Amino acid sequence: MKPKIYVTRKLPKPALDKLKKFFDMEINTMNRALTKKELVDNVKGRDALLCLLSDKIDSDVIKSNPDLKVISNCAVGFDNIDVKTANKYRIPVCNTPGILTETTADMTWAHMLSVARRVVESDKFNRAGKFKGWDLMLFLGGDVHGKTLGIIGAGRIGTAVAKRSIGFNMKILYCDNRRNKTIESSPVNAKKVTLDRLLTRSDFVSLHVPLTKDTVHLIGEKELKKMKKTAYLINTSRGPVINEKALVKALKNKEIAGAGLDVYENEPKMTKGLAELNNTVLTPHTASASFGTRTKMALTAVENAVRAIKGKKPLHVVNPEVLGN
Ligand code: GLV
Repeated sequence: MKPKIYVTRKLPKPALDKLKKFFDMEINTMNRALTKKELVDNVKGRDALLCLLSDKIDSDVIKSNPDLKVISNCAVGFDNIDVKTANKYRIPVCNTPGILTETTADMTWAHMLSVARRVVESDKFNRAGKFKGWDLMLFLGGDVHGKTLGIIGAGRIGTAVAKRSIGFNMKILYCDNRRNKTIESSPVNAKKVTLDRLLTRSDFVSLHVPLTKDTVHLIGEKELKKMKKTAYLINTSRGPVINEKALVKALKNKEIAGAGLDVYENEPKMTKGLAELNNTVLTPHTASASFGTRTKMALTAVENAVRAIKGKKPLHVVNPEVLGN
């Protein structure tokens, strides 16, 4: 008999094909995320759970089946999973780091360029038939080249974002608990600074921290006030890192020039007022959404689940202390 897996959402075909070979699979075919009750009901009696970052795998879900052999998250972030409870029942929690680094860094740059050069706003204007001829003063925005980019969180994605700045001749500041010698070296020549200094000096502030209790509302009213009036805030990490109400206020009052957001504090909802602002570019948590990367993420999540079920070490496990005994 094949081990049983529950999959919370449709996956790319190569990942489904691989799953079917190894597992007796049940999948959520509704075109929406599952409710908590549905998650609880569906993990019961399964050996494995393959979930997405939008599924809240809290202690109630885990306790409804403490015999789960693996929780495989198809994402690098795992703030949606109660790892403490998983540890209690010695359930390995897996993720997909590395795979989406470059694609997410690409999207971060898409946001920087779009918000500064008002790409979305001008596209809407053009489609509305409002372009009546070249105008020296039409859609003036901020430059990207030659400016200062402040990177908060210089891990894998922060590093990839910094490396892309070379062709734009930018100055890079970063803050992180650890030194990042890769970006401090030539040709990036990044400088490690305090958060205060980064906020006051940068023309672009880009967030690349995981969501933890220490990073919730890392950027709030006080921090936004420290930013330059001409600066842009970019977030492709996790929504709650920004106090979204404070951001809407700062954007409305033109305390900063604009924001490029891929993630939201109460995803998928957006704080009232955000969508009405012209100085924002808002994507629906799609920073890693290239065909290739999403397929690789799903294949990795499947491989993690297969390995855990076979009693082998998964490719990426966030709580390795539960393995082995
Ligand atoms: C995307 O946000 C991820 O964590 O994979």
